[in-house]
Amino acid sequence: GAAVEVDISKLQPGEKMVVEWRGKPVWIMRRTPEMLASLEKVEDQLADPNSDRKAYPTPPYAKNRHRSVKPEYLVAVGICSHLGCSPVDKLQPGPQPSLPDDWQGGFLCPCHGSTFDLAGRVFKNKPAPDNLEIPPHYYVSDTVLLIG
Ligand code: FES
Repeated sequence: GAAVEVDISKLQPGEKMVVEWRGKPVWIMRRTPEMLASLEKVEDQLADPNSDRKAYPTPPYAKNRHRSVKPEYLVAVGICSHLGCSPVDKLQPGPQPSLPDDWQGGFLCPCHGSTFDLAGRVFKNKPAPDNLEIPPHYYVSDTVLLIG
C-alpha cells in the first residue's frame, strides 16, 4: 500500500482526525499539554508502558512515553488489539460509565472493555494483549505528515 500524505494544519489542540491507510483507520490526535501530562499519571496502571511487546512492534522513534515523533501528535491505528473493534474516544477526564473514577482521558473499546491511554497504551488486566499499533510515520514539513 502507498503511503498517505496528510495535511494536519487545521487540526486544533484536543482534536482528532481519521485517515485511511492500508484499509485501516489511522487516528491523528493533537494532544494538549494537559493530555500529555496525563500520560505520566497513568503509567503504573499500564500493561506495557514502554511499548516492549511485539504483536505490533512500535517503531523505534515512537518507543517513548508519547509514542510518536512529535509529542503533540498521536498517530495510531484505531483498531483494538483484541478482536479488532474500534475504540471510541473518552477524552474527558473524570468518572464516566465503564471507566475508572480516576480516568485521565483515552479510549474505550466497546466490545470487551479494553481501555487505552492518550498514547494508545493498554491498561492492565484488559483483554487487549497489546497497545494500539503505531504506523510508520514522519513529517514532510511542519504541517504535512506521511504515514506508511
Ligand atoms: Fe476490543 Fe475485545 S475487541 S476489547
